[in-house]
Amino acid sequence: MLQAWIQFVGEEASGQRMAVLEKLGHVGVQAVPRGVGELSGPGVFVFGAADTATLETLRELQLRPSVRVLAVATSGAALAEGACWRLLKAGASDVLVWDRARDVAAEIAARLERWAAVDHLIESRTVQARLVGRSPAWLSVLRQVIEVAAFTDASVLILGESGTGKEEVARLIHALDARAQKRELVILDCTTVVPELSGSEFFGHERGAFTGAVGAREGAFALAHGGTLFLDEVGELPVGLQAQLLRVVQERTYKRVGGNGWHQADFRLVCATNRELADEVARGTFRRDFFHRIASWVCRLPPLRERSEDILPLARHFLQVLRPGVPLEFDEPVREYLLRRSYPGNVRDLRQLITRICKRHVGTGPMSVGDIPPDELPPAEGPGDWQDASFAQSIRRALALGAGLKEIGRSASDTAIRLAIADEQGNLQRAARRLGVTDRALQLRRAQWEE
Ligand SMILES: Nc1ncnc2c1ncn2[C@@H]1O[C@H](COP(=O)(O)OP(=O)(O)OP(=O)(O)O)[C@@H](O)[C@H]1O
Ligand SMILES: [Mg+2]
Repeated sequence: MLQAWIQFVGEEASGQRMAVLEKLGHVGVQAVPRGVGELSGPGVFVFGAADTATLETLRELQLRPSVRVLAVATSGAALAEGACWRLLKAGASDVLVWDRARDVAAEIAARLERWAAVDHLIESRTVQARLVGRSPAWLSVLRQVIEVAAFTDASVLILGESGTGKEEVARLIHALDARAQKRELVILDCTTVVPELSGSEFFGHERGAFTGAVGAREGAFALAHGGTLFLDEVGELPVGLQAQLLRVVQERTYKRVGGNGWHQADFRLVCATNRELADEVARGTFRRDFFHRIASWVCRLPPLRERSEDILPLARHFLQVLRPGVPLEFDEPVREYLLRRSYPGNVRDLRQLITRICKRHVGTGPMSVGDIPPDELPPAEGPGDWQDASFAQSIRRALALGAGLKEIGRSASDTAIRLAIADEQGNLQRAARRLGVTDRALQLRRAQWEE
């Protein structure tokens, strides 16, 4: 028996309650009415009209990242005027109509079962040991990846900025691949492919195919036979080479360099790039036909700034990897610093930062602000922060050169006045306002300089 939560919104939907629950029961779904308490996993949301109240309830459900909603309209009329898209936008994963002419209950059961299987895999060690994160943005893409990896043999194109986890996801796709007697994952970095040797690298060669080919050699396609071929940085692949790869990617047959016989290679193709390949196709710098063949499924990994909820869990994960068995934490200001910092290199940046912090740390207590490498310290901010080391340095020099308190105070305010006037392009009124003095006071002071 498959368990799922169910919610009826509006009178029309409530009127169908008995019929829906009974039909779902027949196909093995035990639908538990949504209580006030904890809600998680896949569930069914039955509604009579896609009005504001319905969309609002849906949005509220979607605030829980582990929840996945199948929206079921009591009639086709409820989906008029593009309501389907509004429901998807409000967070529904799919939308169906409770059509008495069809066995909709079975269709619902099939979806709930698949979603439950995906959720089960998300919690598995295979996934959890590799990829950390529970933010909505991350869970949404992880669900897609798991579904395509475990339940299809589709080629996958992984897009995402540098350091977002593309290689890690490619490894996960191979690990979750359900093929019987699955073989190796073969990784080919397209940035290191030398054009003159690329044919051999991909297709392999026969003995004597070219000068230096003393023996026959298997290429990447042969090595990936029965497994997965991961073309990393596929955006760097020269256009000419893309043309050569079209046939093998489409039909899985190829010839070795210097050979005449056709060889068969069955592999799942996974490609990754941090380039916007669709733009490159539009510009003509990436072949359209090749793009369509490698991208039967595209998943885009979110940058870390769009999943900041994952920063601390990731940071703790890296700590654990670096110091296994030692329960280490971060002090509050360090946590704040980690959350506020920007990560242009995404998860890789965060991992490097944690490695550096961890190297400086001594003892068994939490990581403290002193563990943050000095070149990583945040720029000075907030009231009083301008009185930093360089400020003290200038005062020290003034004292060393014999300047007294009066002279130091005077030159500090003169400097402030000069800077403010320059900042305001010579406008004394505005400069005075910024300095918190009257125009007259500023004029007098300037007159003194000229004396
Ligand atoms: N969700 C995650 N959980 C744990 N570690 C992660 C996660 N995402 C990325 N990493 C780690 O971050 C680093 C960078 O990840 P990866 O090499 O997969 O990124 P990438 O997108 O291929 O980067 P690039 O574009 O620079 O090749 C690796 O050390 C990886 O283990
Ligand atoms: Mg990579």
